Amino acid sequence: MSKVIFIRNAAQLVTLQGSSDAPLVKEKMSELGIIENGSVWIEDGVICAVGKDAELLSKYAGRLDEAEVVDATAKLVTPGLVDPHTHLVFAGSRENEFNMRLQGAAYMEIMNAGGGIHATTRRTQAASHEELFQEGFERLNQFLRHGVTTVEAKSGYGMEWETELKQLEVAKLLNEKHVIDVVSTFMGAHAIPKEYKETPEEFVRLVIEEMIPKVAEMGLAEFNDVFCEHGVFTPEQSRKILEAGRRYGLTPKIHADEIEPYEGAELAAEVGAISADHLLRASEKGMKMMAEKGVVGVLLPGTAYFLMADSANARKMIDLGVPVALSTDCNPGSSPTVSLPFIMNLGCLKMGMTPSEVITAATINAAHAINRGSEIGSLEVGKKGDVTIFNVGNYMKLQYSYGVNHTDTVIKSGKVVVRGGHLIEELSLSKN
Ligand code: NIG
Ligand code: FE
Repeated sequence: MSKVIFIRNAAQLVTLQGSSDAPLVKEKMSELGIIENGSVWIEDGVICAVGKDAELLSKYAGRLDEAEVVDATAKLVTPGLVDPHTHLVFAGSRENEFNMRLQGAAYMEIMNAGGGIHATTRRTQAASHEELFQEGFERLNQFLRHGVTTVEAKSGYGMEWETELKQLEVAKLLNEKHVIDVVSTFMGAHAIPKEYKETPEEFVRLVIEEMIPKVAEMGLAEFNDVFCEHGVFTPEQSRKILEAGRRYGLTPKIHADEIEPYEGAELAAEVGAISADHLLRASEKGMKMMAEKGVVGVLLPGTAYFLMADSANARKMIDLGVPVALSTDCNPGSSPTVSLPFIMNLGCLKMGMTPSEVITAATINAAHAINRGSEIGSLEVGKKGDVTIFNVGNYMKLQYSYGVNHTDTVIKSGKVVVRGGHLIEELSLSKN
């Protein structure tokens, strides 16, 4: 007999219907497709019906005894949240640098002195597969507790092949073992290792000629990302790396205009990146080019908050027609958090987004940023049964009542994995 979940009678059911083909832009970002007293019927992991409770009740009248009923009365039901930009697999933490920054040190200054990304790289190089897997698995559990059901994960704490490979293999194993779907991105070009400080072109060559072909051949990533930033990879080097990835079937992504304006948004549009991420200092010209090419702007207000910097200009991007998504940027240096709902609150308070826009940004637009728009990110017939139920009566309250984890129930691929805010026994979290 098939496994059936019947989510019933949500105060608000956010469907985001009609958004599977392309990310939502401009005023469409506010069209949540809300159904009051809404219900969802999921069978064998796939959504079979979405509508008013009364409609579904009559449609499935003869089969109610087959279903595990999840009562969503007085609650908010949304598509499972999607985090399209994380550095999931890493070892250790950097609270010492947090303390240094509080006393005035700059993020890039710490990195250039051998800390920052280099510090996490050393820890990650020294960690075993098992240690990285355990840390990553626990992080995914935390994501799940915050209502997130799909997570993108970047490598980039290797700076040499062996460790990059280790990170990508761990991400693959996490995808196999954890209920959360992990989507992999290769980011060999995350920083220039100190032995290549004087010969950065040589490192770029290594990434292009040796690492990218192996990643592609082994099928370890779908995307290829680069930290295009003053003092890290130049726009020209970034272009070469992204175009090389493209030749091997890896879709470009880019860390763009994070610390200084560097024409990263323009480059994203020129190389046809699926997303350009950060964009704190993106130019208006770059934003317009992104809008024209449909490049998703993945905004990371948690990073701006944590680096005590001004946030990206989300309002302007949305008004210009850039499809905007939100993400945690979960990493040990610039955004050590898994709370996408907190990022959504920052989206409102620090970037002027509306409560409805941030929901779109953390679901369907986030799904499009990782090429999953036709599978997840909205509650529509045929899509994966990924659903999050929040203990609030409407979508505005999710943003308004901040710093609290409102996640009540999470359903992943048609299976209840979080109930009453708690993970269902750890063992049953595995995919197989
Ligand atoms: O997205 N900017 C580059 N990469 C990360 C930070 C990584 C780190 O500090 O460990 C980011 O902010
Ligand atoms: Fe990042």
